[in-house]
Amino acid sequence: MTNQPQGDVGGSWQQALATRRTQLAGGATLPSAAAARRLPDITRRRFILLNFWAGLGTMLAGSVGVLIDFLYPRGVTGFGGPVPAGKVTDLVKGGSPKEFPIGQFFLVNLDPAETRPGGSGGGEGILALWRKCPHLGCSVPWRPGFNYNDDNGWYRCPCHGSTYTKAGVRVFGPAPRSMDTMAVEIDAAGNIVVQTGQRTPGGPENPQRATKV
Ligand code: FES
Repeated sequence: MTNQPQGDVGGSWQQALATRRTQLAGGATLPSAAAARRLPDITRRRFILLNFWAGLGTMLAGSVGVLIDFLYPRGVTGFGGPVPAGKVTDLVKGGSPKEFPIGQFFLVNLDPAETRPGGSGGGEGILALWRKCPHLGCSVPWRPGFNYNDDNGWYRCPCHGSTYTKAGVRVFGPAPRSMDTMAVEIDAAGNIVVQTGQRTPGGPENPQRATKV
């Protein structure tokens, strides 16, 4: 072991630090501490502002996501979604309409042979009618004993008297159109599902919208 003179220690280390370089491949060197200090600094104020806006943006995005998730309809049952409505064989051809309160509709099996004024209007097959009156929204009942135009059996609105045939075609009253119809699906086994969210404004062609079975 060699003894180094005490007077040389400080000077040697200062010289070594002043000339120190970190060697990289190809002889390149890292920027010195002085060069690093010349890079733009983020001020404390700017840092706080950035954090504030980032937090606010995250919170708003989260709120919008939760709202969309809450409003998005999924698994809708009852009115507004698909409603099972029994089998085709449950509905007598030319018989009275059958009401499904859970789906707010009537289902009827139209018989083109029923040519009376309040009858099928020439339609044939299964037709779903929204029971909501197109005038001001009252529920329209089927009234088999109601007589109009010397004929029994009509939908008759209790509010202002709008009257409709078995196929929902308006024949009397202030309603602006016929009863609205709903999409009907029938599988190979004869099971009926009414898509209560798929409604079409009623019209004189309601009888032709029936699904033949
Ligand atoms: S609500 Fe049906 S006729 Fe007015």
